[in-house]
Amino acid sequence: MCGIVGIVGHDQATEILLQGLEKLEYRGYDSAGIYVLKQANQGFLRKASGRISNLRQEIDAKVSGNTGIGHTRWATHGQPSQTNAHPHSSADGRFYLVHNGVVGNFKELKETYLKDVTLVSQTDTEVIVQLIGYFAAKENLDAFEALRKVVGLLDESSSYALALIDQTQPEKIWIAKNKSPLLLGLGTDFNCICSDAMAMLKLTNRFVELADGDVAQLSPKQTVIEDVKGNVVKRKEFTVDQDASASEKGAYEHYMLKEIDEQPAVMRTLVQKYLQTPNAIDEKLLAAMKQAQRIYIVAAGTSYHAGLVGKELFEKLAQIPVEVHVASEFAYNPPLLAQKPFFIFLSQSGETADSRSVLVQIKEQNYPALTLTNVANSTLSREADYTLLLHAGPEIAVASTKAYTAQIAVEAILAQALGKAKDLQRANELDLAQELGKVANAMQTLVDEKYKIEQLAKQDLLTTRNAFYIGRAIDYATAIEAALKLKEVSYIQTEGFAAGELKHGTIALIEEQTPVIALITSAKTAAHTRSNVQEVKARGAQVITIVKQALATKQDQIILPDVAELLSPLVAIVPCQLLAYYASKQRGYDVDKPRNLAKSVTVE
Ligand code: M6R
Repeated sequence: MCGIVGIVGHDQATEILLQGLEKLEYRGYDSAGIYVLKQANQGFLRKASGRISNLRQEIDAKVSGNTGIGHTRWATHGQPSQTNAHPHSSADGRFYLVHNGVVGNFKELKETYLKDVTLVSQTDTEVIVQLIGYFAAKENLDAFEALRKVVGLLDESSSYALALIDQTQPEKIWIAKNKSPLLLGLGTDFNCICSDAMAMLKLTNRFVELADGDVAQLSPKQTVIEDVKGNVVKRKEFTVDQDASASEKGAYEHYMLKEIDEQPAVMRTLVQKYLQTPNAIDEKLLAAMKQAQRIYIVAAGTSYHAGLVGKELFEKLAQIPVEVHVASEFAYNPPLLAQKPFFIFLSQSGETADSRSVLVQIKEQNYPALTLTNVANSTLSREADYTLLLHAGPEIAVASTKAYTAQIAVEAILAQALGKAKDLQRANELDLAQELGKVANAMQTLVDEKYKIEQLAKQDLLTTRNAFYIGRAIDYATAIEAALKLKEVSYIQTEGFAAGELKHGTIALIEEQTPVIALITSAKTAAHTRSNVQEVKARGAQVITIVKQALATKQDQIILPDVAELLSPLVAIVPCQLLAYYASKQRGYDVDKPRNLAKSVTVE
C-alpha cells in the first residue's frame, strides 16, 4: 500500500517521478505528491488529493530539478486530503520525506519529543520527518545520522520504506526499509528507488533489494548501504527481465479486461514453463513436501480463495490433508499444527503483510515454506525456502483475475508432481499438459463470447443492491471468489454461499429480482444445486446459471466448455470475472481502481 519513487542525478526528475507514480498508482490512489530539488535550498513541493492526474495539474515548468521523491497514498492515518498527502516536511522546511508503512508508536514519539512542534497533518509519517528535523537541529546531526537515529526509535510493530531529502544537500537521497518493499535502481550517472521495479523499468533493469533494517545514501554515482548494526554492506544486484510495455494497457479500456483476456495465454505459458521444461519443480521441494503430514495454505483475499481450490487439488492428486487459512487470522490465532507441517503462501504480489507476518512466525519454528507468487524477488519469495512463479505477467487491476487462475494452475501442477513423486495412480494418469490446454481453449471460448455476459450484466446487475453466488463443493470456492470480484469492483453487496446453506437463514434476503448466480460443474452435486435454484426462484430471485456443457439444459444462460472436473474452477470463474467487470463499467465506476482498495496490501 502506498507507492514511493525517488531519483538522484537525472535532469528529468519531475517527469520520471510522475511516470513512476503512474505505474505505482495500483498501490494506492487517494492522494499523491512530489518534492523536486533544483539546487541547494531551491525545491518544489506539489501535492494533490485524488489521482496522479490531479497532481499533474499542479505541476508547471518551474517544477524541475535532478533530485526528487514522490508518493502515491492509500490512507492509514488521516483521511485522504492534500494536507495528508506525502511528501511531509520538517517544521524548519529543511527535510522532505515519503513513507510507505505504519509507525506503531507515533503517538508516544510525538508526546516524548515533539511537544513544541505543531504537526500540520494527521499522519504518522509526519512524525518521522519532524523527528529528523528535531534531532538534526538539537544534536547537530547530518541527514544520514538523523535518519539512522529516528528509525532506531520506531517500535517493532512499525513498517517503513522511506525516502528523505535534505534541501541543503542537492544530489542526495537517504532511504530506509523495514518490512515494506523498497528497491534501489542502478543507472549510469543516476540512481533511483521504487516500491516496485515496474515504476523504473524505462530507466533501468538493474535493481538491489534492501534488507529489513537497512539504511542507505544515494548520490548519482554512488550508493552506500548500511545494515541495522551500522556496517556497510553490499546487497545482491538482480536484473528484472520484463518488458516495460508488459504493464501497458494497449488498446484495452481497462487493465481488468486485458488481464481476463490474457488467461488462456497464461495457462499455455504455465504448461510450457512447468510441464514442458525438465526439472521445473525442485526435487528438494518435492522431498520436503513428501515428508509433511499436512499442508497449510496461508493467504488473503482472492489468493485465499485459490487456496481453497488448492486444497481439493492436493487432497485428490497427492492425498495429503490440507488446511487453508486466512493469513490475518492465522497470524494471531494459529491452529494446532501437525507435527510435520508444510506451508504454502499464495500471494500475487508477494508483499501482503498479513501473509508475511505468518511466514516470519513459522520460519522462527523452522517449518518449511513455499511461496507461489507472481513477483520474483518479492518479500514472500525471498523469505520462503522455495518459490514457484505464476508467470502471469504484471497484474495491474486491483481486482485479481489472471493471478487467481495462475495460482490454481500452479497448485494443480505441484499437486500432480507430488502425487507422482508418491507414485499415486490418479496423479500418474492425469495428462495435465493436455488438460490445461483444454482449459486454455475453454477460457478462450468464454472471453470470445464476452458480449453475452455484457448483456446479462446489463439485464440483471445494473441496478441491484445485492446479489448471491451459490455453488456446492468446489463450486462453492468459485462462488466466494466470484462474489468478492463482483463486490469489490461494482459495490453490489454480494455473498458467495454454499448452495445448500442458503435455506438455513440467508434465503430470507431473497426478494423479487434479487440476482442469484448458480455455479454447476459437478454431476455429483448438480441435482441438489438445481433444487436450490428452484427454491430461490420460487421466492422471486432472478437466476443466472453457469453450467458445464455436459450438465447443461436449454434454460441455462452461461455454458462452460467441458474440462477435467478438478480443473473446472479455472473455467467457471471466467464468466464471473466478466460479470463483475461489466457490472462495474456499466455503473460508471473506476474498474481498475475501486474505492478504498489498493493492489498490494502491505499493512496488517
Ligand atoms: O497479493 P496478494 O495475492 O497476497 O493479495 C491478497 C489480496 O489482497 C488480494 O487477492 C485482494 O483480495 C484482491 N483485491 C482481490 O481481487
